[in-house]
Amino acid sequence: MKDYVKDYFDRHAHAWVEAAYDEEVRFPVGAERVRLAIEGVAPAMRDGARLVDLGCGGGQLCVHAAKLGWRAVGVDNAPGMIEEARANAGDLELDWIIASYDESGLPSGELDAVTALGLVEYLPDDDGFFAEAARLLRPGGRLAVSCRNRLYNLLSANEYTAEETELPRLLAELRIALARAQPGELHALAESVAASADELERAAQADRDVPPPELHDHRRAFQRGRRQHTPRELDEAAAPHGLRAVEVLALHPHPLPPALEPLAPRTYNALARAWQRALERSPAGLAFSTAFVAVYERA
Ligand SMILES: C[S@@+](CC[C@H](N)C(=O)[O-])C[C@H]1O[C@@H](n2cnc3c(N)ncnc32)[C@H](O)[C@@H]1O
Repeated sequence: MKDYVKDYFDRHAHAWVEAAYDEEVRFPVGAERVRLAIEGVAPAMRDGARLVDLGCGGGQLCVHAAKLGWRAVGVDNAPGMIEEARANAGDLELDWIIASYDESGLPSGELDAVTALGLVEYLPDDDGFFAEAARLLRPGGRLAVSCRNRLYNLLSANEYTAEETELPRLLAELRIALARAQPGELHALAESVAASADELERAAQADRDVPPPELHDHRRAFQRGRRQHTPRELDEAAAPHGLRAVEVLALHPHPLPPALEPLAPRTYNALARAWQRALERSPAGLAFSTAFVAVYERA
């Protein structure tokens, strides 16, 4: 059977990487996702520790890891992506493997960390993924995996809300999460928005002066077919493989419904940036974010 995902990422590798890591108008989702994953696995790492990034794309996470003194290998089944990664890595000492995430040939139980950003949404199920991550990790090693946040269907007020078949179940999970929110998290949000006043003003002015660019998004090619998870769904898939949930980090907040982004994209995304760090460790972040990074520890 033709592998449409592999074919797509192979042919559009450069454009995809450019869109994901473009920070001029959009929310810098690629860079923020890498930062959260690195922070999530860091407690399992020391100088010279080893990490594999599954579905490594243009290699940004591996490059970041190498700069921290970690040894990193990137695995991706799209040759075009590995080409991007090699070019991006320059002289850094990194290893790249062109293979499906579960056919890397890496030995069992030796890695300190496994990361997988933007991968599981393209896989048919979670079980094979968690089995492979658990196989690769040493006991005590950490896994950071990013997911599209199904809980956000409750508030996105778009076609995902209209088509969601399990709203009451999602609402129950979100209400339990929100009950754990702390006052300090709201204070931090207010302080972050206040500290971003200049940036917000510049963004609004630019949106007034320069017509908003069209927001081309290559990732939308698979938008409706990509899987989503709630944090609980992901934890339940990880647990049978001896992976203990450590933390959930909210990624890419939307202070306003996404339908409004094209009206004033610079303003919209400056607001989102002000929300990111303030709410990424708060359950409140999960209500408003399109994605999350979940962190696990291998028993
Ligand atoms: C959304 S991109 C994310 C790239 C990178 N992790 C990042 O965050 O910038 C998904 C990547 O997963 C790769 N991929 C998809 N299915 C895969 C599979 N079965 N095995 C290995 N890589 C895969 C794609 O080629 C693509 O590079």
